[in-house]
Amino acid sequence: MKVVFENLTKKFPNRNKKAGGEVVAVDHFNFQIPDGKLVGLLGPSGCGKSTALFMICGLQKPTEGRIYFGEDDVTDIPPEHRGVGIVFQNYALYPHLTVRQNIVFPLENLKGSEKMSREAMNEKALEVAKLVQIDQLMDRKPNELSGGQQQRVAIARALVKMPKVLLLDEPLSNLDARLRLQTREEIKRIQRETRVTTIFVTHDQEEAMSISDEIVVMKEGVLQQIGAPQQVYDDPINLFVAKFLGTPPINMFDGNVVGEKLFIGEEAVLICPGVKDMAVHVGIRPEGFILDENGPFTCELSRVEVMGRDISVISTHKDAQSVSIRSIIDAMNDVDTTKAQVRFSLKPKKVLLFDRETEERVYFSIQGKSGDNYGLTDSVNSGKEDDQGNNREEVHLIHRQEAENQTEGRA
Ligand SMILES: Nc1ncnc2c1ncn2[C@@H]1O[C@H](COP(=O)(O)OP(=O)(O)O)[C@@H](O)[C@H]1O
Ligand SMILES: [Mg+2]
Repeated sequence: MKVVFENLTKKFPNRNKKAGGEVVAVDHFNFQIPDGKLVGLLGPSGCGKSTALFMICGLQKPTEGRIYFGEDDVTDIPPEHRGVGIVFQNYALYPHLTVRQNIVFPLENLKGSEKMSREAMNEKALEVAKLVQIDQLMDRKPNELSGGQQQRVAIARALVKMPKVLLLDEPLSNLDARLRLQTREEIKRIQRETRVTTIFVTHDQEEAMSISDEIVVMKEGVLQQIGAPQQVYDDPINLFVAKFLGTPPINMFDGNVVGEKLFIGEEAVLICPGVKDMAVHVGIRPEGFILDENGPFTCELSRVEVMGRDISVISTHKDAQSVSIRSIIDAMNDVDTTKAQVRFSLKPKKVLLFDRETEERVYFSIQGKSGDNYGLTDSVNSGKEDDQGNNREEVHLIHRQEAENQTEGRA
């Protein structure tokens, strides 16, 4: 069942009475949650995720706009008739009921033709209990279960009526780190098996990235970007999305484009065809650095951390926006730690530019093939014509719309 939002908006009177006015918790949502997918609704605390979820299940009424399940407008349908299952952060199980009784509970009050016999209810409960792998625990009470097991009971209870849409509001935040990993794999598996359209709310980008078919990134009630996790990571449309996604986070610098060259400090570190002269925020993903003693980008070396397959090179730069820069390179590389400086060349696809004023992405076309040192060596700094000059005619600024078209083509 796809879920469609049309101008969906929720305003609250400001809780801070002194400040007054209104808070727009969800601001004109116009997008779709695709059928049968697991979608991560992602954003910092207070950005409106729970409010969006409550409107989908009917516990909160939109100020404006409509919600459709498939072709059906459900905006005015009460929660119990929407066919949604919801799981909250705190498992909210009935402590005095057994696991079986907790799971069966939503079936007890079915009316008319939907009414089920006790036997049928127990059978149904066992079926979903098997799915979430708690069928051995049916006679226990919640306080005899681990946090992870309790959350599985909550999921079973949400699934027992075979919902059209499953909503999970930060379902892992009360679990310890190991259980969190395990339970998120579980949720992924359960979703794969049931194919029920699932919306998974979290403020944890790593969690959303690892579990979701698509992520929806929001900020202050406003949708920022929607797409496959890797695609949004590779192609963020603005500074907020770029900084919000990624562990370790993207490295940010103050930069300037002059004559289609990107300068960080005095050094031209990359050719960026088609970009007009302007001040930019430069984001470089940790995996975007290539150790290169002739590379155009010089940083002050702090230390090296070996992590098995990879090495983290920690360095600093006067134009970095954070205290240190983290670059991740293959452990095959030898970093000369006797030197005070380390030099890099950069992978153009891993360098993201943003307008210093608007914080919107500034696109440039990428020259050179991978493996040819990306056409950027010291020649950039010594002012020579770059050896790809003959490609210049094809080079142009990729506007947002074109980038979007490309993205669609890829999907
Ligand atoms: N019932 C309410 N009354 C007033 N303000 C609310 C209410 N519920 C949420 N808000 C406000 O709406 C914004 C979004 O809240 P919420 O949806 O809970 O965010 P999230 O789930 O992303 O943390 C916040 O500013 C919050 O204070
Ligand atoms: Mg919330």
